[in-house]
Amino acid sequence: MDYPRLLAAAERAARATTGQGRVADYIPALASADPESFGMAVATVDGRLYGVGDWERPFSVQSISKLFTLALALAHGGDGLWQGVGREPSGNPFNSLVQLETEHGIPRNPFINAGALVVTDRLLSLTGDAAGAVRDFLRQESGNPLLDTDAEVAASEAAHGHRNAALAHFIASHDNLHNPVEAVLEHYYAHCAIATSCRDLVLAGSFLARHGARADGSRLMSRSEAKRINSVLLTCGTYDAAGDFAYRVGLPGKSGVGGGILAIIPGRAAVCAWGPRLDRAGNSVAAVTALDTLTTLSGCSVF
Ligand code: DON
Repeated sequence: MDYPRLLAAAERAARATTGQGRVADYIPALASADPESFGMAVATVDGRLYGVGDWERPFSVQSISKLFTLALALAHGGDGLWQGVGREPSGNPFNSLVQLETEHGIPRNPFINAGALVVTDRLLSLTGDAAGAVRDFLRQESGNPLLDTDAEVAASEAAHGHRNAALAHFIASHDNLHNPVEAVLEHYYAHCAIATSCRDLVLAGSFLARHGARADGSRLMSRSEAKRINSVLLTCGTYDAAGDFAYRVGLPGKSGVGGGILAIIPGRAAVCAWGPRLDRAGNSVAAVTALDTLTTLSGCSVF
């Protein structure tokens, strides 16, 4: 696989999307991102690392953190997690409340905000510090000791977090949170507000390409558990656009409103693309285009 050539082609296609989509502004601290930034990185399972554009520039990880909370909650706590959160696509926006009411406070999947709040709650019970567990895992796998929560972004999320607070209280009313709502929200905002780069994320996400094995060769989870996480990423990782993402890209992937998407080529590599302009579902226009280009030119997808 000629990754430098593929990354160059993906960057050209992504840069041609200039002007399409809008930078997220419902969290005010995200609105200042340079809309034309673009970066992309690949980490292969045999230890090679490639990047183009702003691949080492930090951006707000946002919902990509939900991949790591899920992995850590399953690794530390096992399958019991699925009693409190489902694994079906929601077909609704990531911050929607509607299904919770008829579905007894059990969110559809771990990647919509409601489901991520439940997973954060369980990780908080398991570790005593959910956001710290995510931060430490990202630091260890990426080898970047400076990676941390951006306090300004976390505060901005909290100050404008009525929707997430409503979701958390509703879930708590169904006894599906084990910790106080305020603590769950604090950890949720703190892991969403971690500043990280395409470089860090491909290294941290590589355990899913290595079927559950970490960078140091130890095992975070079994092969079968890694397969399951990749499956939920494919069906739910890009919200109500998961069908379109699977159609265009053909890889398990997780997006965030900071404009990043981390995708996995099982057995081969982790790939991350970043551009702050988002489509209506909250997925980066440039990142989806870049990943589409990479899998189309290389013929390398899960299908
Ligand atoms: O809770 C929120 O709304 C944000 N912290 C995360 C949302 C997000 O990244 C959805 N992704 N596309």
